[in-house]
Formats: sequence, C-alpha cells, structure tokens
Amino acid sequence: MDYEKYIQEAKEHFESILREQLERVEKIKNEGDWIDYSKLPKIIIGVAGGDGIGPFITEQTQRVLEFLLRDEIAEGKIEFRKIEGLTIENRVKHMQAVPDDVLQEIKKCHVLLKGPTTTPKKGDPWPNIESANVAIRRALDLFANVRPVRVPDLGIDWVFFRENTEGAYMLGSKGVMIGDDLAMDFKVITAPGAERIIRLAFDYAKKNNRKKVTVVTKANVVKKTDGLFLDIAEKVAKDYPEIQWDDWFIDIMTAKLIDPARRSQFDVIVLPNLYGDILTDEAAQIQGGVGTAGSANIGKRYAMFEAIHGTALRMVKEGREKYANPMSMIKAGAMMLEHLGYVEKAKRLNMAIDICNSFERKVVVTGHSDGATGEEMANYVMETLKDENLEDKWKKYQSQ
Ligand code: IPM
Ligand code: MG
Repeated sequence: MDYEKYIQEAKEHFESILREQLERVEKIKNEGDWIDYSKLPKIIIGVAGGDGIGPFITEQTQRVLEFLLRDEIAEGKIEFRKIEGLTIENRVKHMQAVPDDVLQEIKKCHVLLKGPTTTPKKGDPWPNIESANVAIRRALDLFANVRPVRVPDLGIDWVFFRENTEGAYMLGSKGVMIGDDLAMDFKVITAPGAERIIRLAFDYAKKNNRKKVTVVTKANVVKKTDGLFLDIAEKVAKDYPEIQWDDWFIDIMTAKLIDPARRSQFDVIVLPNLYGDILTDEAAQIQGGVGTAGSANIGKRYAMFEAIHGTALRMVKEGREKYANPMSMIKAGAMMLEHLGYVEKAKRLNMAIDICNSFERKVVVTGHSDGATGEEMANYVMETLKDENLEDKWKKYQSQ
C-alpha cells in the first residue's frame, strides 16, 4: 500500500489542528468574566426535548420549574422558550451535529434545559454524525460538567468537575485513518483549559466548605496531556492552602469508588473529559443508576442542564415513554435554579427530590406500566413542594 498520500494529508490535517488549538488557547486566555444573571432584565431558558424519552421527561421538568418560578414568569423576569429542531431527524437532514439555525436560537437564550439526544455510532441506522452534546458543549464553551452524586446512607457526597471541552472529546471527530491499517485520534489538554476547570473545582470547595479536592489522571502513562493537567493542579492548589488535595490514577480511583472503607472520604473530584465521563456513570450507578443523576454544563456566558443518561429509544419503541422517570432532569433543573441564583428555590426542590425519591416514596416510577408515569411523579414533586413544612419534614427524615 502506498501510504505517502495519506501521510501528506495527515500532516496538513495535523497542522490545521495545531493552529486551531493555539487559537483556542488565546481565546481562553482572553475570555471575559462570568455572566451576572442578577443584572439581566430577563432570563431566557431555552428548552430542547431531544430524542427518545427526552421530550417526555423534559416536559415534566419544565412543569416543575414553571411551578417554582411562577411569580418570576408572571413578572416577565423569566421566559421559557421552546427550541425546535434538536432532533436526530433534523440533525441528519442537515448532516450537522447541531444545525446552524438551531444553534443560533440556542445562543439567543441564557441557559438551556436539554433532553438526551441520540449519538450515532458506526453501524447505527443513522449517519455517523457527531454527538449534539459534545457539539453544544464546544460551541457554547461549556467547559465544566458538574455532576453531584449523593447517597446519604453511605456517607457519599461527591461533586465531580469533569472537563468538558478538551481531552479525548475535543477532537473526537477529527482523527485520521492512514489507509485501512492505521487509525489515530487526538487528545488535547491546554494549560488555560485545565486551569479554569481546576480553579472552578477549588473555588467550589472553598465556597461550600468542602475539605478536599481529588485530581484524577493517568499521568504516569499518558505523560504529556495528563501530566500537564496534574502540573496545573499542583500550581492551582497553592492558591487554596485551606483545601487539602490529593491525586489518584483513574484505574485505582475506579476501584476506590466501590470501596466502602475509602469512598466516603472523596469530596470534590476534578478530572479530564473521558475519565469524567466514565467515572460519573460509575458514581451515578452507586447512587441508583444513571437515571438518577443530573448534570450542569457551565461556561462563563452560557450553561446547559441535562440528565446524564441516554434517550432510551427502546422505551419509546415499546410504547413506555410516559413511564420514563423525569427525576434525573428535575435534578438538573434544581442545578439550573441554583446556577441562576435562585438558591432558596433550588434548596427546596432538592429537599422535595430527597423526600420523593429516597424517604417517602409515595409514588414510584419503574419504567413500566406497573409504576407511575413521569407526569404523576412530577405532580408528586409539586405537591411535596407545596408543603409549608417541607424543610422540617426533610430534616426529620434526614435524622432518622
Ligand atoms: C454524557 C454522555 C455523552 C458524553 C455522550 C452522549 C456523548 O455520555 O453526557 O456523559 O460522552 O459526554
Ligand atoms: Mg457519559
């Protein structure tokens, strides 16, 4: 096989990647300050249901949020705006991860509530287009993927800060094939990119009276990229002398998350993209499954809130979509409230979620017709929120 042609092409491709990434580095270095929602006359919340069970659980989440924000909506301080076209059919029609006009509409909002979207892989009935999640995270520069996992009975209270715009994902669709025999993908870590996520994790720890930040890499083997991530962590940690920190390799960290003797000692955890993807699924499973976890994708200008699970197309095929559990997205909704500065409402919603999900469990969703529907679950959450003694009730359960 004559590889020369491929090598030439790959060299040019690699050069363009380097230039693009260096431009990104400059952009990150010069990025502005965090948006201040309290200064906006109106906050626009975009809502995109996505695929599969997405539109069903998103609708229920919107109902709960609209209930909590009813006064703000009436005063015109908050607007919910439906974003059309973030569906696999429309994305395939345009052959774009996120069609341009859809992205434009998203950019007119301040934050986005997003249902799961289909991510095709080789061999699927869909063309192998890029993940909409990954494309939106990149287009809106949502560099921090924040994923809390709590299991009070086991003493688990973790907050993961997954880097969201670099690592193995950044160039996930830009690898090269040299003939049929050699495949290469690229992994990228930039110094300012690592610094902003690590700093956010330490800031969070400081503001929330957390004791420790754990940095997870595989820097002993993946020396350049993970090595840089760890070096930057060491540097950033010096600015936070009151916060302890340690570093773990991803393999042993994966083991320690299921070690009852160790796991409750982890607190805030910060890690590159792919490790964060994998470890947060494991963590969510310990909490009760990926269906139980919400996630915030945060950047300085935009933010997106979503569940961490997929579209569950099988449920739709079997006609079970109305039995899909909206709790993961409702949790993401609580993260949205907190992010927008509605801290008290977020706190109430989180207490209601604990009561409905863990303590009282008057309504249970199983995903099948023997359980409640998503709508009934959302109604239960709203009923719980109406209780004036919500906090006392929650405290009582908590101390039992
Ligand atoms: C997640 C998901 C996505 C990811 C997929 C759908 C591209 O697994 O949000 O964790 O890998 O980031
Ligand atoms: Mg994932």
